Amino acid sequence: MLLKDLSLICAVIAFSSVASAATATTKAKAAAPAPSPSPSQAVPAPIIPLPPFNGTFANPYPPQFTIAATNTPLVAQWLKELNMTAVPNFPVVPFTAGGDPSNPKAIPADACDWTETNCINKDIIQCPKGVWGLTYDDGPTEFSEQLYNALDKTDQKATLFYIGSNVLQNWQAARRACGAGHQIAVHTWSHHPSTSLTNEQFVAEIKYTELAIKELCGFTPTYFRPPYGDIDNRIRGLLTQMGYTSVIWDLDTNDWMMAPGGQRTMAQVDQAFDQWIAAAPKDTTGHICLEHELYQNTVDAAIANLPRLQQTWKTMPVSACVNDPHPYKEHNITLATMNGAVAGVNNNPNSTTGTNTTGGSNTTVPTTAGKKNTAATLTTAGLSTLLAVVVMALSHL
Ligand SMILES: *[C@@H]1O[C@H](CO)[C@@H](O)[C@H](O)[C@H]1NC(C)=O
Ligand SMILES: *[C@@H]1O[C@H](CO)[C@@H](O)[C@H](O)[C@H]1NC(C)=O
Ligand SMILES: *[C@@H]1O[C@H](CO)[C@@H](O)[C@H](O)[C@H]1NC(C)=O
Ligand SMILES: *[C@@H]1O[C@H](CO)[C@@H](O)[C@H](O)[C@H]1NC(C)=O
Ligand SMILES: *[C@@H]1O[C@H](CO)[C@@H](O)[C@H](O)[C@H]1NC(C)=O
Ligand SMILES: *[C@@H]1O[C@H](CO)[C@@H](O)[C@H](O)[C@H]1NC(C)=O
Ligand SMILES: [Zn+2]
Repeated sequence: MLLKDLSLICAVIAFSSVASAATATTKAKAAAPAPSPSPSQAVPAPIIPLPPFNGTFANPYPPQFTIAATNTPLVAQWLKELNMTAVPNFPVVPFTAGGDPSNPKAIPADACDWTETNCINKDIIQCPKGVWGLTYDDGPTEFSEQLYNALDKTDQKATLFYIGSNVLQNWQAARRACGAGHQIAVHTWSHHPSTSLTNEQFVAEIKYTELAIKELCGFTPTYFRPPYGDIDNRIRGLLTQMGYTSVIWDLDTNDWMMAPGGQRTMAQVDQAFDQWIAAAPKDTTGHICLEHELYQNTVDAAIANLPRLQQTWKTMPVSACVNDPHPYKEHNITLATMNGAVAGVNNNPNSTTGTNTTGGSNTTVPTTAGKKNTAATLTTAGLSTLLAVVVMALSHL
């Protein structure tokens, strides 16, 4: 019953805005701010070398923002590589149009469903004490370059959970982030709740996104964040088969509710950060916080609050806080970690760059604190307003 993240709706609105731009001005478009400034201004040289890319993806991809098709040769090949008998057999969960399970009580306890029961099973939900895992979801978008400019100013890296459909749409921003050494991770192809998908659909959603990132950036992510935090043991089993670690969060800005026409103000998001910062001296753990690079105002909130996060915690990507120097399948690429790994490419076995795995690479950080935060939860009024926005946006598709 608790809606943790409505960014599917948000993503649909964003897509509607983009799609309508080609034809006519619409309310959704009119509500959108001016495009981000040119990325050409002072973008540092890539620290991760990228393959050539001419703007056209070589592989056939499913239509954007629809559940990835499963009846393709690629999906058949991907499924063949997995051991489906090792995947726990829990039922596909029916969802309402509003984004909640239709019958939450029917979800078995041993499915370990996080959204419904807060159950964790090897998911990463926090960083160690004193550390803030910076994560931005739902990109890349037309607003992303503003965020990346701000991150570059302090050489700050973050984990970016990308929607495959958006990678095709905004590939220039994605290429920039890949080269900058941010941790690129997967957030599905179409942003539907994972447990609402069949095994085959979920595999297609992950692997098409992975393939797009590989074509564009030359590497294969191994971290995943479930849209809405929606994950259970069936989904975890599929992720294990595909070599993925799941990342949830212990603090939620609810910034996605700042959608145009939404129910949350910048001041409320700032207040959530105020409270966490005030509580920091008594923290017994670090955090992983949910933010979005989805709208102009979520990016504005992210940029405005970054400096005080940097003053309060050691801020870094999730892979860095769990000391995983190799968050991509290609182990010749290294990203910086808390215990001293240096970002770069290492094809020389004697190099000291990118070889530091001392300190361990186990990725599960156990949780002790409850994950509920003090920020506003979605009210019924908020939901109906958002749904009204969706209906409006959909009418322009
Ligand atoms: C761009 O790359 C794609 C995929 O590799 C290729 O099919 C296409 O011919 C290339 N186009 C140009 C103009 O080079
Ligand atoms: C597939 O998984 C099952 C259950 O874990 C296991 O018994 C079996 O050996 C696995 N098959 C292969 C080919 O790895
Ligand atoms: C990493 O290794 C792979 C496989 O050997 C290679 O194709 C790729 O170009 C290498 N990546 C970089 C950035 O050197
Ligand atoms: C590797 O990690 C250790 C332990 O954190 C650190 O002392 C060392 O400086 C690191 N070495 C490199 C080459 O980054
Ligand atoms: C790595 O070091 C070994 C031992 O010092 C040396 O024999 C070898 O040639 C080096 N390899 C490279 C690629 O530099
Ligand atoms: C990582 O996990 C493996 C298996 O669970 C364990 O054997 C190993 O000791 C762990 N390593 C560290 C550094 O915690
Ligand atoms: Zn999302």
